[in-house]
Amino acid sequence: MNDHSSETLEAARAAAPARSTGTAPNESTQFATQDTLLTPRFYTTDFKAIDQVDVSPLRKEWDTLMAEFEADTNTDHFQRPAEMSGTNYSNLPPALYEEFSQFLISSLTSEFSGCVLYAEIRKKVKNPDMRTLFGYMARDESRHAGFINQWLKDFGIGVDLGFLTKAKKYTFFKPKYVYYATYLSEKIGYARYIAIYRQIERHPELRFHPIFLWFERWCNDEFRHGEAFALMMRAQPSLLRGLNLYWIRFFQLAVYATMFVRDHTRPEMHKALGLDPTTYGLQVFGITSRIAEQVFPVTLDHTHPAFLTGLQRLCEIQQAVELAKARGGLLSGLRRIGLAAQAGLTFARLYFLPVVRKDLPDDIRLAPSW
Ligand SMILES: [Fe+2]
Ligand SMILES: [Fe+2]
Repeated sequence: MNDHSSETLEAARAAAPARSTGTAPNESTQFATQDTLLTPRFYTTDFKAIDQVDVSPLRKEWDTLMAEFEADTNTDHFQRPAEMSGTNYSNLPPALYEEFSQFLISSLTSEFSGCVLYAEIRKKVKNPDMRTLFGYMARDESRHAGFINQWLKDFGIGVDLGFLTKAKKYTFFKPKYVYYATYLSEKIGYARYIAIYRQIERHPELRFHPIFLWFERWCNDEFRHGEAFALMMRAQPSLLRGLNLYWIRFFQLAVYATMFVRDHTRPEMHKALGLDPTTYGLQVFGITSRIAEQVFPVTLDHTHPAFLTGLQRLCEIQQAVELAKARGGLLSGLRRIGLAAQAGLTFARLYFLPVVRKDLPDDIRLAPSW
């Protein structure tokens, strides 16, 4: 039985620097506290319902997965060699520095969001299978969050995780929405990191910051977290049929669209990595959808030409919203309402595009082989 989750949550919070003034959070903490359509959120759920989850129909697969968590192959991975700590890696062109530090803060927020949710579930449930699983996952996410924060501290912009836990709003999600959304964010997290890692493996000269060296083993943790949610959903087959298929499509589209639009706000970072955000996005969707077939009988057809057109339209709308925000005033307020309606319509069009339907495989488990 793992009993590390609350300690690791504390450790992650402790990894944050003390606030310099003792009162106001620093800029990066404020940035992480924001809740917009594109920023990672914090979640809470119905803990009693999670306590009822019965994985016994998949006992063999479950025990194998728990043994992998127990083996903890990444236990020493998230530590920096002495020569790297304290080295100043912030000497980047200003626009790249800006985008990259925002990328780090946003990644840290989503790692920590997972950590908080998983640690809370672990604390609130009695079911031994759920306690064990969420304890392991909180352990991993707290390592990930603490690790990113070490690099941010080098930039002098560490996030105050203790402050974030208190100041950030918590969105309530029914357990099934937690499964769909978290499964997808774990798997897309894997796909994003492995695609970047393979790129810097091919082009070491593009590695503008050492953190990318950690991505391969890091994303194997995320892959494994996704496997756990896959088993939880396959153990409750009613979540994967009927009207729930519409929710599954909704969450896939929400996760894909958010990623695509957010990545397109970071052109400099992608340029520095030698990646085109559109090609990279489609590559990540390809990997994620291929993986998601282990659990979702419907996946989005990201190869449909109208799919890309719709996502590009969402990017244009996002840019127009930013422009209107910067201008301010009543007219731009009205303009923003109009843009929100256009975004809604574009999302709806994307939602009703044809999807790929496949029977679920007998063998649920997958290996991170990309
Ligand atoms: Fe993580
Ligand atoms: Fe994860």
